[in-house]
Amino acid sequence: MSLIAASIPVIAIDGPSGSGKGTIARQVATALGWHLLDSGALYRLVAVAAAESGQSDAAEAELARIAADLEVRFGTNEAGEEQIWLSGHEVSGQVRAEECGLMASKIAALPDVRTALLELQRGFRKAPGLVADGRDMGSMVFPDSGLKVFLTASAEERAKRRHKQLKDKGIDVSLPALSRDIEDRDRRDSERKVAPLRPAEDARLLDSSNLTIDAVTQTILDWVNKLNIVT
Ligand code: DC
Repeated sequence: MSLIAASIPVIAIDGPSGSGKGTIARQVATALGWHLLDSGALYRLVAVAAAESGQSDAAEAELARIAADLEVRFGTNEAGEEQIWLSGHEVSGQVRAEECGLMASKIAALPDVRTALLELQRGFRKAPGLVADGRDMGSMVFPDSGLKVFLTASAEERAKRRHKQLKDKGIDVSLPALSRDIEDRDRRDSERKVAPLRPAEDARLLDSSNLTIDAVTQTILDWVNKLNIVT
């Protein structure tokens, strides 16, 4: 890492799916005027890229090559909705599909894929600062983050949130099936050998089960102020 990059502050927000970290990371980044890295989207993009080239069942080395060659761009449309491009074509819908999340979770357990994505993730560290959301932002990718937050919520609450999100999009999934998927994915993410989902030793734990999104965002912004992270 260059000396310049090392001086750019990072806030790491890690936690399981449905903890609200994506929305909260976005709000914190907007409030500070900082860049945002949604690292889960990168694992999902590897899954999309592999599927597009008919290599969903490819061996680890091949998936790692796909990861190393990812050409991605993030943005928002006029309605403020997220847009994601892979090699110049839009794949926002595919990236957020449930199957893509499941495949990403399997791909994320492969050490060579994780290594292949390290540099790409660190490249998002740009002035004036970065809010990075994922599973191992504080522990592996940006261990020198000025603030590390580990956001949790009960599995039941996370399933309910995801259910509502999908329903709002017109997607009908049964709540018990969703709970099972979330528990399966949690297990896979926390039991895997490489970069398991676990708080960094110096992370601050924040349980969002009974808090609004705004209250969680405000707690993090208060920590940012107290820690004097913004230069
Ligand atoms: O947060 P998400 O659901 O978009 O992440 C998709 C998958 O990628 C999820 O199963 C966990 C994995 N992931 C990871 O292993 N490390 C990260 N930094 C981000 C996501």
